Amino acid sequence: MNSSPWWKEATIYQIYPRSFFDSNGDGEGDLPGVTSKLDYVKSLGVDAIWLSPFYTSPNKDGGYDVANPRDVDPRFGNLEDAKELIAHAHQRDLRVIADIVPNHFSDQHVWFQAALKAGPGSKERERFHFYDAHADGTPPNNWISIFGGPSWTQVEDGQFYLHLFDSSQPDLNWENPEVNADFEKTLRFWIDLGVDGFRIDVAHGLIKEDVLTNHPDPQGLSDALRLDVAMDFEKRNALLLTVPFFDRQGVHEIYKKWRKLFDSYGERNIMAVAEAWVHPPVNATRYVRADELHQVFNFDLLTAEFNSDVLFDVVERSISLNATVNALPTWALSNHDSPRVASRIGDEQARALALFVFGLPGSTYVFAGQELGLPDGQLQDSDRQDPMFFRSNGPSKGRDGARVPLPWSGDTTPFGFSTGKPWLPISQSWKDFTVEHELIDPKSSLHLYKNALELRKEFLVGAGGITWLESSRHGSKKDALLSYSRGPITVVMNLSDSVQECDAAGKLLIVSGANVDARDGKKVIPARSTAWFLT
Ligand code: NOJ
Repeated sequence: MNSSPWWKEATIYQIYPRSFFDSNGDGEGDLPGVTSKLDYVKSLGVDAIWLSPFYTSPNKDGGYDVANPRDVDPRFGNLEDAKELIAHAHQRDLRVIADIVPNHFSDQHVWFQAALKAGPGSKERERFHFYDAHADGTPPNNWISIFGGPSWTQVEDGQFYLHLFDSSQPDLNWENPEVNADFEKTLRFWIDLGVDGFRIDVAHGLIKEDVLTNHPDPQGLSDALRLDVAMDFEKRNALLLTVPFFDRQGVHEIYKKWRKLFDSYGERNIMAVAEAWVHPPVNATRYVRADELHQVFNFDLLTAEFNSDVLFDVVERSISLNATVNALPTWALSNHDSPRVASRIGDEQARALALFVFGLPGSTYVFAGQELGLPDGQLQDSDRQDPMFFRSNGPSKGRDGARVPLPWSGDTTPFGFSTGKPWLPISQSWKDFTVEHELIDPKSSLHLYKNALELRKEFLVGAGGITWLESSRHGSKKDALLSYSRGPITVVMNLSDSVQECDAAGKLLIVSGANVDARDGKKVIPARSTAWFLT
């Protein structure tokens, strides 16, 4: 019997509500839409859902611009719909994780509107980072927004406010006790409504230092922070050590307080996972010390090449660093901010990598649509809605490609997602990616995910650490293979473009590609595939 808390090795399914299922024909997914598809979600074999923001928002940044964190935006439904969703999830033994956005509010939040009215020097402005312009009229410092363009916007009276993201997302001042109190209220609000945990947006960003100091290389820093900008590895790492607005010591004081709040709910086992892009990687473990949060995202697999050395390093580093604080890693191949894994590394490779990580210790995150093997949507610039596209003035196409709505059924776009016009177009070429289609194809990505997650639960959750069997770094013969054993399972991934023999013993349980053959007592693993064997 596994007595670990529910989240320890949970498989968590990320739902971007606007793109999941539209229940009312307005072209946008909504909370009742999610509720109506919970049987499907449950059938995948996941343990929990993480819902990207559905709070009141002008939706300038996909809902990560929150105007009221304790209410539901009408585009998604209302609070009753949220309660119903949570209740229906719980009936199916699915936990619900809400996405909380503490780094910034929307400029439409009442606090920001009050700050604009109250003027310089007011208590209202102290909830944000308002400062006077320099004597020459320039902003308080030279920081560049993560979405491109300056990090400062000037208001009518001449002061500037700080926004690490879009100008519609003013950063909150976490040195102000009112901000702390308001977020504790929000956390309690959602816990009392029934949620089981939180994904904390920009968890590493709450405390800023040197807000009035210029950075020596703002453009370099901005490029280093953007994964879509290529940069020499050493140069990027050196710049990432100089970020004045991320990963400051003060953020940990906040999470220690939050942890006490979560723990005060006792057996509810409320969990939190930090979105913290930090450098060096060891710093991520600080977020999951025993008196802080429960999980921290490991983003390395969102960008890692399909290469055995790279993947060995990512897995080994993540497991060993987390072990220093007695935590388990998390694994994610896709999310709403990154290109979909099938587009990034190829569809066969994406299946192989999924099956490889499903065997690993820790928690696995699956971004809705990943189980179908969806590629990024093909969009025209006129379709795009992401502020990253607009603020970068072109070079960054933004993240809309990963957010194209899910294809559910039928042969014609929008494949049952909506009876209206979807907010982003769904290509007719997705005909064979619908849930309906994949359910009847035993070789589909959907079946692979369902079978793998069932086997993971049966043999691997709680099975302890891994032992590497093969890697080019590990007494290995070939760098085409990456292989480990865990509990009764041996996992072998063939990263190469040709079949590869391996010594794995035992009965084949599942394979992500074509069949596994046997030859002279060896197993023959198909190209770009992963297989699990039961010994
Ligand atoms: C991270 C979120 O995942 C992303 O979608 C958002 O744009 C930024 N944080 C700002 O909230």
